[in-house]
Amino acid sequence: MISLSVAIDPNKGIGYKGALPWHLKDELQIFKRNTMHKHIVMGQTTYDGLPGRLKDRYITVISIDHEYKPDDVEVEYDLIEFLKKHEDDETEYIICGGASIYRQSYPYCRKAYVSFVKKEYEVDTHFDAFDLNDWEIILEEDHPDFIYRELKRKS
Ligand SMILES: NC(=O)c1ccc[n+]([C@@H]2O[C@H](COP(=O)([O-])OP(=O)(O)OC[C@H]3O[C@@H](n4cnc5c(N)ncnc54)[C@H](OP(=O)(O)O)[C@@H]3O)[C@@H](O)[C@H]2O)c1
Repeated sequence: MISLSVAIDPNKGIGYKGALPWHLKDELQIFKRNTMHKHIVMGQTTYDGLPGRLKDRYITVISIDHEYKPDDVEVEYDLIEFLKKHEDDETEYIICGGASIYRQSYPYCRKAYVSFVKKEYEVDTHFDAFDLNDWEIILEEDHPDFIYRELKRKS
C-alpha cells in the first residue's frame, strides 16, 4: 500500500528554500510516530535537505541520478515503476515528499497522514494536487499550530 505524509498550509504550501517553512516540534513528533520502523520514500532534494539522519526507518530515495548513492538508503531511479510495483503490497510505503514526488504519487496513495498548518507561511513549493474532498477523515486531532488528520481515500 502507498500512503503519504505531509504538513500543508492553508495555501497548500509545503516548502521554502529547500526546507520546511515552519518549525513545529509537535508536528515532527507525529511524523516520527507515524514513520518509525516503517518504509518511507522521498525525493533526492528532500533527503539532501534533511537537518539530520532519520533513524530506525527504511528509507528509499527517488533520484534520476544513477551516480547518487548515499549510505544506508535504497535509491530508486523510476518513481512510477516503484509505485506500481508496491501499490498492492501489504507493506505500507509512506511518501514523504517533496513536491514533485507528492504530485506524481498522489493518485496511488490510499491513506494520508496530514497536518493542516493553521498559519499562512512564506512558501515557494506547493502540493497543488492535494484535495481534502478526495478523502474520508478517519482521525482528527487539534493541536495549537495545526490540525492533524488521518485520511482514507474515498472509493
Ligand atoms: N511540508 C512537508 O511535509 C514536506 C515534506 C517533504 C518535503 N517538503 C519540501 O519540499 C521541497 C522539496 O521538493 P522538490 O519537489 O523540490 O524535491 P523532491 O520531490 O524532494 O525531489 C525531487 C528529486 O526527485 C527526482 N525525481 C522526480 N521525479 C522523479 C521520477 N519520476 N523518477 C526519478 N526521479 C525523480 C528529481 O529529479 P529532477 O529534478 O531531475 O526531475 C529530483 O532529484 C523542500 O522545500 C522540502 O522541505 C515538505
